[in-house]
Amino acid sequence: MNPVYQKLEMCYQSIRERIPYKPEVALVLGSGLGAFADGLVQDAVIEYNEIKGFPVSTVYGHKGRFVFAHVGDVPVVIMQGRVHYYEGYSITDVVLPIRLMWQMGAKKLFLTNASGGINGRFQAGDFMLITDHISCFAPNPLIGQNIDELGPRFPDMSKVYAPSLNRCIRAEAGRLGISLEEGIYVQLTGPSYETPAEIRMLKALGADAVGMSTVCEAIAGNHMGMQVCGISCITNLAAGISQNPLSHSEVKETADRVAPMFQRLVYASIQAMGR
Ligand code: HPA
Repeated sequence: MNPVYQKLEMCYQSIRERIPYKPEVALVLGSGLGAFADGLVQDAVIEYNEIKGFPVSTVYGHKGRFVFAHVGDVPVVIMQGRVHYYEGYSITDVVLPIRLMWQMGAKKLFLTNASGGINGRFQAGDFMLITDHISCFAPNPLIGQNIDELGPRFPDMSKVYAPSLNRCIRAEAGRLGISLEEGIYVQLTGPSYETPAEIRMLKALGADAVGMSTVCEAIAGNHMGMQVCGISCITNLAAGISQNPLSHSEVKETADRVAPMFQRLVYASIQAMGR
């Protein structure tokens, strides 16, 4: 068996009896946004370090666990803390949790992240609906022998972010009076932030926001036929657009500041996706 698939199966087998129900939506919480899961009635929790073979996150402030909870009537599995490529894991390990949530039964994938704003209209604290992405600066998670059980060798990526889910998010933002930007997200590997020259390049390529996650997860989700959507919290202006040096504490501060509004939007959007 393909070793990547073998590892996924090992993880799944080690927790399958603890999965309380088939989740409909898989939600990934980005840096500083993890508190969403704390505000819900939790039906079950599985710590990443209890899963045999699972890549365990090391970044300060990132929790590492799956939380099972209902958002309204919708059963959801939530990743409170994700795995980043810059931590030193292989890119297939980075997307393993996404594949695991698909194995649990989730067919919709809701990605969130903190990012730097490239688009000149954006301000720190804005939310951006991800309408498309640029993946070519981080390794593709589908490299290697294709896992036919998951999806095809050459998956189409012309509509990664599902228009039907985007419509739910837009409608709920409008209803809640939360302003929602839209744009293209680019993933770099990190962990260093970008230089101003890199940001000018990314802008010329058409990117609106930059970060260190999400795209590889969206690719893995799309490969398996999941409906994918994503919201980026613009926590800072990207290097060179802001005159200040970038820092993780600024990212966290902004994410904390807008977290209540972010949580309302995510909650309402998931409820709408279940209707
Ligand atoms: N660049 C990359 N990743 C980020 C940023 C940024 O400016 N802000 C939050 N995550």
